[in-house]
Order: sequence, then structure tokens, then C-alpha cells
Amino acid sequence: MTKTEAQNKIQQLSEEIREHNYEYYALSQPTIADFDFDKMLQELIILEKQFPELLDESSPSQRVGGTITKKFKTVKHKYPMLSLGNTYSKEELEEFDGRIRKILGDDFEYTCELKYDGVAISLIYKNGQLDQAVTRGDGTQGDVVTTNIKTIKCIPLKLKGGFPKDFEIRGEIFMKVEDFEKLNQQREAEGEETYANPRNFTSGTIKMQDSAQVAKRPLDCFLYHLLGENLPTDLHYENVRNAKEWGFKISDNMAKCKSIDEIMNFINEWEEGKKSLPFDIDGVVIKVNDQKQQEELGFTAKSPRWAIAYKYKAEEACTILNEITYQVGRTGAITPVANLEPVFLAGTTVKRASLHNANEIERLDIREGDHVFVEKGGEIIPKITRVDLSKRDRNSQPTIYIMKCPECSAELIREEGEAIHYCPNEESCPPQIKGKIEHFIGRNAMNIEHLGPEIIETFYEKGFVKDISDLYDLEKHRDVITQMDGFGKTSIQNILVSLEASKKVPFAKVLFALGIRFVGQTVAKKLARHFQNIDNIISASQDELLSVDEIGDRIAESLTKHLSNKSNILVINMLKENGLTFEIAESELPSSDKLSGVSFVISGTFTDHSRDQLKKMIEDNGGKNVSSISKKLNYLLAGENMGPNKLKKAQDLEIKIISEKEFEEMIG
Ligand code: IVH
Repeated sequence: MTKTEAQNKIQQLSEEIREHNYEYYALSQPTIADFDFDKMLQELIILEKQFPELLDESSPSQRVGGTITKKFKTVKHKYPMLSLGNTYSKEELEEFDGRIRKILGDDFEYTCELKYDGVAISLIYKNGQLDQAVTRGDGTQGDVVTTNIKTIKCIPLKLKGGFPKDFEIRGEIFMKVEDFEKLNQQREAEGEETYANPRNFTSGTIKMQDSAQVAKRPLDCFLYHLLGENLPTDLHYENVRNAKEWGFKISDNMAKCKSIDEIMNFINEWEEGKKSLPFDIDGVVIKVNDQKQQEELGFTAKSPRWAIAYKYKAEEACTILNEITYQVGRTGAITPVANLEPVFLAGTTVKRASLHNANEIERLDIREGDHVFVEKGGEIIPKITRVDLSKRDRNSQPTIYIMKCPECSAELIREEGEAIHYCPNEESCPPQIKGKIEHFIGRNAMNIEHLGPEIIETFYEKGFVKDISDLYDLEKHRDVITQMDGFGKTSIQNILVSLEASKKVPFAKVLFALGIRFVGQTVAKKLARHFQNIDNIISASQDELLSVDEIGDRIAESLTKHLSNKSNILVINMLKENGLTFEIAESELPSSDKLSGVSFVISGTFTDHSRDQLKKMIEDNGGKNVSSISKKLNYLLAGENMGPNKLKKAQDLEIKIISEKEFEEMIG
């Protein structure tokens, strides 16, 4: 293919992919199958690799992230990002309307739209390309998070149609509730702290240093406010409808209204309607539609006079706190739980609510016997918002947080800077043991079918399994189990067959199944590839662990702690004896040893390959990816825009710095 032919093809593919992205992510109306879409994208990526000089930074292939930002640059907003005044009642809305009518008379229109509960973002477009994405920050200046925002598929990198040359568009980044719950559960399984709601998860994600990690999280974005000097019209509603044609995700749930009654209709409809939305909203935003009239109304110090947020009251109920109990998780984390007098709230009966940790109990000053308010806001899990002090018993005493584990009586510990208490008795605290066994048999771990929490509970109570290695000794209890209630010959046979099959589960999954704190699936894969077998991991020093790509202090410490514990080693040895896989298979081994013993740090952005591809190429040739520059490092593989600190450090330590081309030649 000639360069001109490639150029035409790349352009045609990019346009088609952009359109499909728009239909899928902005309109939620895909017109082709995922498989065909992937094929098209693959074709584009291959062509861009063949003709690197034709790669455009707005190409739809550039959404996988890869740039690391240690500290985000701060910039001043061209137009300050103000907040909105809040109201909670029709009366307050009438006052707002009255103030406006005094200035504008009766000749104006409002728009009503949903108030998304996410994180505000400002996007600057120049000549139809996304130039900069900036967070709200303090309203005057915010952080430049463009590389992270580029990974959000519904945000167009390149616009279509008759867009203005220079403009800003603002909107809200959010995560769908279902995605949030799935990811949070995954984090919990990996011993990571969980987020309280999708908004916190979104805000944490936008500030991540590694954009490749951001790309893995399903963020979404509605745009709702255009700013600039050459907008198509002076009307907000009409402008955002136009912006939809340029490729932005603009909600159709908007209305133009002339009176408070019409506004209240919109508000009331969505109070019910919001329950079936896949994302959280916390109210409705009412704006004067005409920008000229907006200017006439102006701003107060904090917010515009031409707009207001009507916030839905979170549904609330009052009930009695009967008892605070404490749950112990697989990793030993203690969660205090409020056991409530059952109360009906927003469609369900609430009996329990999480109190999170000791700080929260102290903050609420909550005590057994108190009358408490329970709320169901955007969050699905009910929370206790406050105590009705007027109803408190005169003799009530402040809650004293437990000092001993409620399950095994071990003294609890709380590490500095952490909010959560832990039970350190990993080896004999029953819920920790059962939790670890449940984790071990899970689908993403050893995938042992026919075993579940209830059977584990029974086997534990009967003394058949006291740790994960006992599972492989169940055969000796076969006869007793067959006689037990609810078990028969086939059920125990099925369990034994699944256990046998699990001996073939690859090393990375076995490593994950061990349930080492902070060693999730991805980390387990990295460790397995790098060290190749369990003995190498056991004997690795802290420094060697830290030299592995993506392994930081927290994970390295947790690994060392787990693997220096004699009983954990004993369990591993028993599992080994039982034939589980503790080394990577031949097929997973590097295909060449050209880079054997050679270590690389990858930094910056590259033209021919993504960072992940380069990492894989290094591993496939027997080399090592490490994350930080040290004296022992062999090469710094440097792309464009690499951090100046990294470069300086490499130069100071006289590390060889090579380009992508030089690297390609090395493995030739
Ligand atoms: S308009 C000056 N429209 O709510 C007008 N804001 O409390 C600025 N928000 O910072 C905002 N949905 O992050 C507008 N449809 C919507 C919105 C919305 C959510 C957020 C936004 C803003 C905050 C104000």
C-alpha cells in the first residue's frame, strides 16, 4: 500500500470508528456488532503501525492511555467554574423566579435538566480537536487531566459538523451504578479499600497517575454547558442541541419551561424517573435559556443568578439503633454494623447499615438505644446520617469501640493513618479462615465448582477443612460426608472432581487464590511472569519485588509478610505436594532469550507501539520490566514527553537511554 493509499484508508477508518463510537457511547444506539467494530479498530492500529508518520493524536486508536503524570499541571480557567445555589422546595424556587422576573420581566424561558452526581470537567476544543481537559479545582484554577480524559470513549477527540473554532464545553463525569458496584466488589475481594459511592470512585479515577489504569475504568460523561465567543446561537438549549451534532453526549432529558408549574412537573416526573436511570442524579438544574439575559442577571460571588439547583431530599426515616455488632472480613478488617429496628425506606425494609469504622462512630456520637435517621440518597446502601439527640436516654454512655476481635478475642490493631481496625489472628480467626477458603475456590481463583460458602461453613464446623490445603484431603472424609444431611455420593464426587481439575489452574491464578493482601489478579499475573515460580517469589528480597513493574511498597511489604510466615509456607508446601501448579507453563515462558537478564524502564509515549505492547515484547524476549530507575537498571526506553526527573536521574546514574527504534533493533 502506498502512503497516499494508507492515508486515505486511515482517514476513512478513523471517521467510521468515530461515528460508531458516537453511536455506541454518546447515543447508546450501536449500529454494528462489537466484533466488526474491533476488526475495524485493529485494521486502523495495524496501518498506523506501518505508517507511524500518519498517526494523529486524535486518532480513535489513542484511547488506551499509557502516559504517567506524577503531578498534574494547574491552569487558570478562562471562565470561573462556579457552583449553583441549592433549593429544596417549591417556595424557594418561587423566590428564585421572583428575583428573575423583577429584572427580566416575563419575556424569557427556562431550561430544566438533570443534575448529574459526578465530577465537573471543562473541555477546551481548538479547531475541532480536544486540546485540554481541566478539573474544577477551586473554581478559579484546576488540574490538567487531558491524558486521563482522553480515555473516556464518549468524549470526542475530534469533532464533526459545524463547530466553532474555539470553545469550551463543561459537563459531568460519572460512573454507572452497576459498573461501580462491580468494581467495588472486585476491590473488596483484593483487600483494597472500597469507595462509598460512584462519585468518589470517579473523582479518584480522574486523579490517577497512570492513564492506562483510567482507561480500564468505565467512566462516562454528559456535557451541559457551552462557553465561547462564536457559539451557534445565544440560547443555551439550542447550543447544546447543536453540540450533540458535533459528537458530544448531550442528554435528551431536557425541557424548556415558562412557569414554575412547568418546572415542578419536570422535577416531579424525575423524582420517580431517577429510580430507573443507570446513574445517580441528585436534582434538577434550572437555567435561564438566553445568554444575553444570563449576562443581564449576572453572578453573586459564588454562583450565577440565572441558574439554580433543585435538590431532591434523600429519602429518610427515623428508627432505633438496637445494637452495634462487628463483622470480620477475609483480610481481618473489622466493620461495625448498625442493627436497626426494621424500618421501611424507599421501597425496602432496612435492618442494617454500615458504620464504616471507629471514626464514623465517633463523628456521629452514635450509641445503642439512640433514635437515628437513616437515609437512602444516591447511594444504594442506606447510611445513618445523624442521631436524634432530643430522644436520647439520659443514662446512655458513649460507644466504646471493641478492642478484641468478636470472633476470636485477639487484640485488634489499627495501623497509623488507617481508619480500619484489623484482627491480626490470620491463622485461627474463623471468619478469616472461612473467607480465605471462599476466596480460594472463587471463579477467578481456583474455580472449584460445587463448593460454596454454605458447604465451606459445614466442612469448617465439622473440622474437615481448617485451611485451604485441607480441601485436597477431603477424600479421606468421603464416607462421612456421604452420610451427612444434604450430601450424597454424587455431590461429594463432584466436589472431588472439581478439586482434581483445579490442579491444572495456571500459576498466576493459584498465586491470586492464596489471598495475599493487595495481590489482585493483575499483580499475581505480573509476579508469575516475572519470577516464574513460587520459590523465586519466596526468596525474593524487598528490592527485587519492588523492581517489578507496578509493584509498590504496599504490595511488596504484604508479600514479604505473608511469605515469611511459617504456617503460610506450610500451606503452600502442602498445596505443592498435592500437585497444584506453582510455576508458569512452558507456553507462558518467553519465546526468545535475547533480553535475558536485561532490565528496562519505559517512559513517555511512543509511535510504533503502545507501552503495554512494549512491555510484552520485553517479557516475550526474556527481559524484565521495572518501574523505577536505579543503578542496576540496564536501559531506559524513552519516548516522547517523558518526565524530566526520570531523564535526569537516568543521566546522573549513567543509564543507557534508547529510542523505540533502537529497541526494535535489539530484538530484531
Ligand atoms: S450548570 C454556572 N448543569 O452541579 C452553571 N451543572 O452545584 C454551572 N452539575 O459544578 C453548572 N449537572 O458539577 C450544570 N446539568 C447540569 C449539571 C451541573 C450537574 C454539577 C456541576 C456544578 C454543580 C453545581
